[in-house]
Amino acid sequence: MTELRFDGRVAIITGAGHGLGRSHALTLAERGAKVVVNDLGGTLDGTGSSAGPAAEVAELIAKNGGEAVVSTHDVATPEGAAAIVQTAIDAFGKVDIVVNNAGILRDKSFGKMSVEEFDQVLAVHVRGSFLVTRAAFPHLKEQGYGRIVNTSSPAGLFGNFGQANYSTAKMGLVGLTKTLGIEGARAGIRANAIAPIAWTRMTESLLPAEFEERFTPGRVSALVAYLAHESCETSGEVFSVGAGRIARVFVAEGPGWRQEDHTVEDIRDNWQAIMAEQPYLTPTTLGEQAGASLRAML
Ligand SMILES: NC(=O)c1ccc[n+]([C@@H]2O[C@H](COP(=O)([O-])OP(=O)(O)OC[C@H]3O[C@@H](n4cnc5c(N)ncnc54)[C@H](O)[C@@H]3O)[C@@H](O)[C@H]2O)c1
Repeated sequence: MTELRFDGRVAIITGAGHGLGRSHALTLAERGAKVVVNDLGGTLDGTGSSAGPAAEVAELIAKNGGEAVVSTHDVATPEGAAAIVQTAIDAFGKVDIVVNNAGILRDKSFGKMSVEEFDQVLAVHVRGSFLVTRAAFPHLKEQGYGRIVNTSSPAGLFGNFGQANYSTAKMGLVGLTKTLGIEGARAGIRANAIAPIAWTRMTESLLPAEFEERFTPGRVSALVAYLAHESCETSGEVFSVGAGRIARVFVAEGPGWRQEDHTVEDIRDNWQAIMAEQPYLTPTTLGEQAGASLRAML
């Protein structure tokens, strides 16, 4: 079995000072990638900063015989995002892989959530992923190659109490991933998203203690590495991953119910047909979805 290697590839991993990002960085470096270890080094809610976590991971990579540089820039500002990509260009001459992983939490039930708590979470997850990808995109396009892995969450895909801000952000990343998949296709750029579960500082107070050994970050990083590899041509997809299980999560549309002129009562009376799931469609573009709707009208 040939090993999947990343020799000659340059990867940016955001939020790589702790948890999942740290594990992704170590995995890619171990397989030959040159890595930009980015981390602002703040607390879980995004306050504060420290150069320590990113430096520690870069040192560990070097100790293991790999190559890494440190970036302590903030993904959520255009200047920070540009500097992260520039760090890759300055140190290694290019960028091939972007893993948007940096994230924070500001959990509150919806009625108590402040505008700031909403904005800050979207700023790091959505704006940060947009900004870093945007800064890397011209380089990827020019070389006709790129791999982008965004970090969604089951909380966004399926909803979770107390996480209106985080769920909105994480579902937003699905839209970003799908459109990047479409717009990057001709330039050899593939974009996918993961929705992980792992034992990290973000989840250690939420998950049962016995999860620590099974839900290791390493059991997420193998999928990230595969999606970041040149042999993976899949794009625009989302995968849930954790504790050794990997599954495609897809957006599907049911067969639908149609009656050109309908009343409010008709909708009530046909609610079961409207809610039906089978047979479902999984359009990969808006055009495919609209085409299916149009065909149903003919
Ligand atoms: N752990 C899980 O089960 C789980 C589940 C679903 C999604 N996620 C997502 O996975 C990603 C990694 O989370 P984790 O569990 O490893 O948590 P973590 O807190 O250990 O790691 C997140 C890292 O991002 C860094 N970061 C935060 N804001 C930043 C910014 N503005 N710029 C640069 N770096 C910044 C933090 O310093 C931290 O090191 C996050 O996007 C998170 O939402 C995690």
